[in-house]
Amino acid sequence: MRTVDHEVLFSPEKIGEMVRELADAVDSRSVDSFLVLTVLKGAAIFSSDLVRAMATPTELAYISASSYVDGFVPGEDLTVRLGENLEVRDRDVLIVEDIVDTGRTIREIRRAVEELQPRSTTVVSLVNKIDRRDTNFQPDFTGFEITHEFIYGYGLDWDERFRDLPYIALARV
Ligand code: PRP
Repeated sequence: MRTVDHEVLFSPEKIGEMVRELADAVDSRSVDSFLVLTVLKGAAIFSSDLVRAMATPTELAYISASSYVDGFVPGEDLTVRLGENLEVRDRDVLIVEDIVDTGRTIREIRRAVEELQPRSTTVVSLVNKIDRRDTNFQPDFTGFEITHEFIYGYGLDWDERFRDLPYIALARV
């Protein structure tokens, strides 16, 4: 594999500060507890830091969304996979994303979750990529704002690589 010289965009320290800010924001919802739905795979690392920075008690669950199932083509409606036996009704749900880009994934996930009649739904995303938004979806809380850049690290992949970097890097493509 070619060695990549990473250009750090958001350092571990900056990410740590942002995680604490977002944890405070989420805590300000003042609910008794959150059912945290983490969107795999990218948000797994952010989510595990976020829940440990939050004061609100949590129950953790993991969900996925894909546009590549059952012959669906990318860009069309997504299939959202919620865990079996996931009790969402009357729960305060926190959906955790690493990045919102076009907004289609999170829009479909929120729609699928709301069909299960939660008491409330809050969406938090570490990164808000605003240039390619083609839905009017806005997360309740967002951290870093970027425009057109391609980023990776801290859960975000570049062809499935580099999710394990402790910082977010900027791809020079
Ligand atoms: C990324 C990211 C969001 C989605 C955002 O997931 O984690 O779920 O894309 O894009 P959108 O706003 O244009 O829908 P990806 O499909 O790359 O999967 P991954 O989390 O497993 O890397």
